[in-house]
Amino acid sequence: MRNALVVLSLAGVLAACASMAPGPSMPASPAAERGLQFVTRSCAGCHAVGNVGQSANAVAPPFASVRMRHTAIGLERSLAQIARDGHGEMPPIYMTAAEVQDIVAYVESLAPVS
Ligand code: HEC
Repeated sequence: MRNALVVLSLAGVLAACASMAPGPSMPASPAAERGLQFVTRSCAGCHAVGNVGQSANAVAPPFASVRMRHTAIGLERSLAQIARDGHGEMPPIYMTAAEVQDIVAYVESLAPVS
């Protein structure tokens, strides 16, 4: 009985995640998994963080198109700079170097779209 409850509440959490972040890809590695958790918490309010879907903030590019535009190393640099200075309309968001690497791993795991 207890197990059934755990399974049910887990299913609820997964369903909630799925509705918050449309179409997240299956994370490819533990780093990508941590990156997904970080971006779901800190970035999904403005950016579409999954493989499909529109950003909540129309000016914020979906991460799948960020994936297209940047190499991993370029993205790592631009995230480090964003953490410091923000980017255009985007406010600075504090990210540690380890968090930046997780986010890069996650974005790299997305299928690129234009
Ligand atoms: C308050 C809304 C908001 C939040 C939260 C936000 N962003 Fe942004 N982001 C934007 C906007 C708007 C732009 C486009 C800026 C512009 O070009 O003026 C942008 C641009 C970017 C770009 C540049 C894309 C490119 O190709 O040049 C990256 C990378 C990025 N955001 C990553 C992130 C990450 C990672 C997070 C979470 C840690 C995040 N953003 C959270 C609004 C946001």
